[in-house]
Amino acid sequence: MSYNLLKGKKGIIFGALNEQSIAWKTAEHAAAEGAEFVLTNTPASMRFGTIDALAEKYNTIVIPADATNIEDLENLISKTMEHFGGKIDFVLHSIGMSPNVRKENAYNDINYNLYHQTLDISAISFHKILQACYKMDAINEWGSVVALSYIAAERTFCNYNDMADAKSMLESIARSFGYIYGQEKHVRINTISQSPTKTTAGSGITGFNNLVDYAEMMSPLGNASADDCADYIITLFSDLTRKVTMQNLFHDGGFSNMGMSIKGMEAISKGLSEKK
Ligand SMILES: NC(=O)c1ccc[n+]([C@@H]2O[C@H](COP(=O)([O-])OP(=O)(O)OC[C@H]3O[C@@H](n4cnc5c(N)ncnc54)[C@H](O)[C@@H]3O)[C@@H](O)[C@H]2O)c1
Repeated sequence: MSYNLLKGKKGIIFGALNEQSIAWKTAEHAAAEGAEFVLTNTPASMRFGTIDALAEKYNTIVIPADATNIEDLENLISKTMEHFGGKIDFVLHSIGMSPNVRKENAYNDINYNLYHQTLDISAISFHKILQACYKMDAINEWGSVVALSYIAAERTFCNYNDMADAKSMLESIARSFGYIYGQEKHVRINTISQSPTKTTAGSGITGFNNLVDYAEMMSPLGNASADDCADYIITLFSDLTRKVTMQNLFHDGGFSNMGMSIKGMEAISKGLSEKK
């Protein structure tokens, strides 16, 4: 069902790799709500994934950019403004990758060069995008920027590794830049802390399926899917949330405020009795 929440709005969507991607779902929902957008991803991800099919479906363009590269970002932003003939209203940062996770380096045996890359790709890229947009005055007043986080930014989840540090930094950037961009241009900046979701990035975490099952058992509303997440992102891009900024917003079916659920307790007792 469409409410025309984004009628006339224009934006940039980072991170649509394939149909599972949260960014892909967001593009679909944004189009349904009347938005126009430019898609972007790294050249390697464009080859590996299926972003061109998404662009074709919505009659838009893909501008390649490595979000850690400032020249790429400036080129992306100026070409996007050229494409639309003016400024944009929303940006989605749906980017995450840890080379340490990929190489299965334990958090207590981390490779520091790769650690820098994790932080650059998954967190500092958010600052780079915001700073480039700010300097190029690319976002209209009351525009909205959203990035995706995970609860491991605040609580320890085994195997999330250096991505936990990246997510903490990402949430902090939303607050620090949110103050400046809000005060000077009325642009709002938020992060959404999403349930574990079966995507390419998610599935890179060791034991990810168990994490999904655990979160499902603990969440009174169940895990939020990528489609649910896209819906939430649309509300943040819309004019209905104009005074929401500098927040980390949990979108997790209630998981973040749970301690123990009956389903969780039952699973633990079953596991313990099987062990005896
Ligand atoms: N899947 C989950 O369980 C989950 C939960 C909470 C938050 N998130 C976050 O959601 C966001 C989107 O991930 P997803 O789950 O849709 O997976 P995904 O793998 O579909 O998307 C990750 C994207 O990051 C892009 N990317 C990687 N390096 C980049 C770079 N240097 N420049 C530009 N783009 C780059 C990839 O090409 C890919 O499109 C990430 O920030 C992720 O951490 C995911």
